Amino acid sequence: MYTQFIFAVLPALFLISAALPTAASPLSDPSYGPQPGQSPYYSTYRGTSDAFPANVTHAAILPSESCAPGPDDLLFQNLLAAEWAIYSFYQQGVERFNSSAFTALGLPNTTYDRIAEIRDNEAGHLRIFQNQISNASIKPGACKYDYGFSGPADYLATQTVLEVSSMAFLTGLVLQAKTDTSKAVLVAIAETESRHNAWSLIDVWNTSPFAGPTDTVFPYANQILDVTNEFIIPGSCPEENPPYPTPNQHLPPMDYDSNTTTLEPGSPITFTFPNEKNQPQFEQGKDYYAVAFHALSNFSMPFDTTTKTVTIPAEFEGGRGLILVVIADQMGAPTLKSVVAGPSVLLEQPNLAQLKKKD
Ligand SMILES: *[C@@H]1O[C@H](CO)[C@@H](O)[C@H](O)[C@H]1NC(C)=O
Ligand SMILES: *[C@@H]1O[C@H](CO)[C@@H](O)[C@H](O)[C@H]1NC(C)=O
Ligand SMILES: *[C@@H]1O[C@H](CO)[C@@H](O)[C@H](O)[C@H]1NC(C)=O
Ligand SMILES: *[C@@H]1O[C@H](CO)[C@@H](O)[C@H](O)[C@H]1NC(C)=O
Ligand SMILES: *[C@@H]1O[C@H](CO)[C@@H](O)[C@H](O)[C@H]1NC(C)=O
Ligand SMILES: *[C@@H]1O[C@H](CO)[C@@H](O)[C@H](O)[C@H]1NC(C)=O
Repeated sequence: MYTQFIFAVLPALFLISAALPTAASPLSDPSYGPQPGQSPYYSTYRGTSDAFPANVTHAAILPSESCAPGPDDLLFQNLLAAEWAIYSFYQQGVERFNSSAFTALGLPNTTYDRIAEIRDNEAGHLRIFQNQISNASIKPGACKYDYGFSGPADYLATQTVLEVSSMAFLTGLVLQAKTDTSKAVLVAIAETESRHNAWSLIDVWNTSPFAGPTDTVFPYANQILDVTNEFIIPGSCPEENPPYPTPNQHLPPMDYDSNTTTLEPGSPITFTFPNEKNQPQFEQGKDYYAVAFHALSNFSMPFDTTTKTVTIPAEFEGGRGLILVVIADQMGAPTLKSVVAGPSVLLEQPNLAQLKKKD
């Protein structure tokens, strides 16, 4: 009788307790902790341990209300998940290096301090994006990340790729945003990433911070976000996190052979599809195009699926900003579905192909 009770009732009790709401995270209250734009914390914290809000919890924040989700909840869930990857990149830099690591490369003695300050800005972004998601939706938590940088020089090259890529995916997210307020938030964030990038162009790369009259608009933001999945250590995300990004086409990742290109407009480039488990499926007899986006326009080049080599459009200005290339089954990649692989981020400024050769 007693044993029967244990087997019948205890599992039920366990189910009930699992279904009870867990204590709300203090972070669900937007007034909790330093306020971005009011407290100097998101510029001046210099500890090597995690910055707020990550020092409170890296966990996902569960919904506390059951009303309809906010119109841009999905957008900011995707952006918050991306922001954890970007914040963690800077936090790892702060933990791994010190000022001598950068001055040994001949860089200004402010370099480490700038990395720490950008880390603080990114912590502010975490807080801002948490607060942009309504209480009806999960606010994704942090995963564990591996960026594969070997030392401080490599770290700074990755930093520039991340900042320039984030400027590009933010232009795409503006196209997804439903409310004008969200659009303004995204522009304000993109402007901050652009300042981070301007700093590194001047102080780290000793180059002009300007990238022509406009940076690159790329309409399919989630395709760039998906590329950041390569940094996530598999299985390390909180299980409550929604799939990142949502929606996700799971396109074959695309890279290029940096040994055989100058990356300059007019020069050849050979693309590679490094994930053996996710290769593009090219249909016989069908036409494919490498579609390159730079500034506000795109150029399509017939893509030979055997040589995988095209010429970077000579029409693009040289040595400025970035070029994003996708493989599409229609000229101009006019729809999301027309993209079959990529994107590949070609960093022109600094010229990543030339930097890699110097390593
Ligand atoms: C979300 O919930 C927190 C408490 O958990 C509350 O402080 C906050 O005002 C709520 N936000 C909205 C928009 O209702
Ligand atoms: C961590 O967050 C708490 C607030 O919960 C704050 O008082 C504390 O100063 C923070 N620590 C750091 C290192 O930012
Ligand atoms: C930086 O760290 C190295 C060891 O990795 C140490 O030798 C050096 O003294 C440190 N420099 C400063 C300024 O703390
Ligand atoms: C940093 O470098 C500047 C000159 O570039 C120098 O004036 C300053 O004293 C240095 N600061 C430290 C802490 O080494
Ligand atoms: C580029 O060259 C390096 C060094 O010569 C080599 O290790 C690497 O495999 C080459 N990359 C490709 C894609 O062939
Ligand atoms: C690429 O440019 C063409 C016009 O040249 C345009 O029709 C097409 O929509 C553009 N593609 C995207 C994805 O914006």
